[in-house]
Amino acid sequence: MIHIPRAEYTRRRKALMAQMEPNSIAILPAAAVAIRNRDVEHVYRQDSDFQYLSGFPEPEAVIVLMPGRQHGEYVLFCRERNAERELWDGLRAGTEGAIRDFGADDAFPITDIDDILPGLIEGRDRVYSAMGSNAEFDRHLMDWINVIRSKAHLGAQPPNEFVALDHLLHDMRLYKSAAEVKVMREAARISCAAHVKAMQASRAGLHEFSLEAELDYEFRKGGAKMPAYGSIVAAGRNSCILHYQQNDAVLKDGDLVLIDAGCEIDCYASDITRTWPVNGKFSPEQKAIYEIVLASQEAAFAEIAPDKHWNQAHEATVQVITAGLVKLGLLQGDVDELIANEAYKAFYMHRAGHWLGMDVHDVGEYKVGGEWRVLEVGMALTVEPGIYISPDNQTVAKKWRGIGVRIEDDVVVTKQGCEILTGGVPKTVADIEALMAAAR
Ligand code: GLY
Ligand code: MN
Ligand code: MN
Repeated sequence: MIHIPRAEYTRRRKALMAQMEPNSIAILPAAAVAIRNRDVEHVYRQDSDFQYLSGFPEPEAVIVLMPGRQHGEYVLFCRERNAERELWDGLRAGTEGAIRDFGADDAFPITDIDDILPGLIEGRDRVYSAMGSNAEFDRHLMDWINVIRSKAHLGAQPPNEFVALDHLLHDMRLYKSAAEVKVMREAARISCAAHVKAMQASRAGLHEFSLEAELDYEFRKGGAKMPAYGSIVAAGRNSCILHYQQNDAVLKDGDLVLIDAGCEIDCYASDITRTWPVNGKFSPEQKAIYEIVLASQEAAFAEIAPDKHWNQAHEATVQVITAGLVKLGLLQGDVDELIANEAYKAFYMHRAGHWLGMDVHDVGEYKVGGEWRVLEVGMALTVEPGIYISPDNQTVAKKWRGIGVRIEDDVVVTKQGCEILTGGVPKTVADIEALMAAAR
């Protein structure tokens, strides 16, 4: 299995600590277990920031980073080994495993955190944490601080500054290393295979969930634990619902089906959308819309390179889509004016992409100092223009209504431009029709 090597987690912790102010401490909790219903739990997924710094996959754990500490800069609080619990729920690293297998300099049982952590914080000037994102942990942190404050008369020195960790950490996460790109390529490769499988299986009379099953099968077979987000399998008019997830309608002859799905490998997401005709052959109207979306995506790729800013790719898609809709008579007027007054938003109401990484909508600022961010090597993003003609749109001829097309690929910015990670699934009308014909 392709995964992030242990040395990379060490490097990340060191890089973060190098950016922290002198005499400071960073504290991050693992994700909590989420209850699905009664005693049934959701599949556990580690918090992305916690995973990024540790690779430690268990709940009930806390990372403590103390740059410059003589007795070890990286302390991990985690669950102790417990034969009874491990019999029921699976193996735990325990404190020994945290040191041996996960590079902690020191490890303590999570049950001792209230006794130990105030002593680690005491005397440090600044505390870095993800303030505001985990109310329960914020309360704990204040409890630990108050323990120190209550001992001020004995000479204890509580920290005076509380700093959001997000800014430093999320900027680091925005730049993908070679190892991260490798994992993202693998997630993309498996997701491409899944889309191909779904395309080949597409038949009128099946359900949206029939194609979802093909995706899930390929994801799991490839070693992915789960999709990176709820798969969207939207046939016919459902393709015009941007976050459709019901996935239970019948696939009808003559309709399109839009699938937006990607798996996650070692906590790195892929995010692919393809749209194809259920019966394997585009109608003239479907093809006309599809070609505009595809051309707009090509125009966007050309705007992704180190010297371009974040919004240039989006602007390129708006230009091509608006001009295309005018040409088909779906919008009337001057292209520049239709862009200026945002008339295109009746058909294209979302942005052309987002950062991609450990979170499908990954962290990282889109603007810096009020200006669109300039792209740099290693940034990963999606390119996903679309046209959605509402089934209720009375301003267009009936034959156009209910057509929804999105095409989405994942890219990483390179010195020359960008690398498309998700090229392994057909995208042109001819290639999709050929693949589907061969599967019939
Ligand atoms: N699948 C979510 C997105 O495309 O942004
Ligand atoms: Mn996306
Ligand atoms: Mn998507």
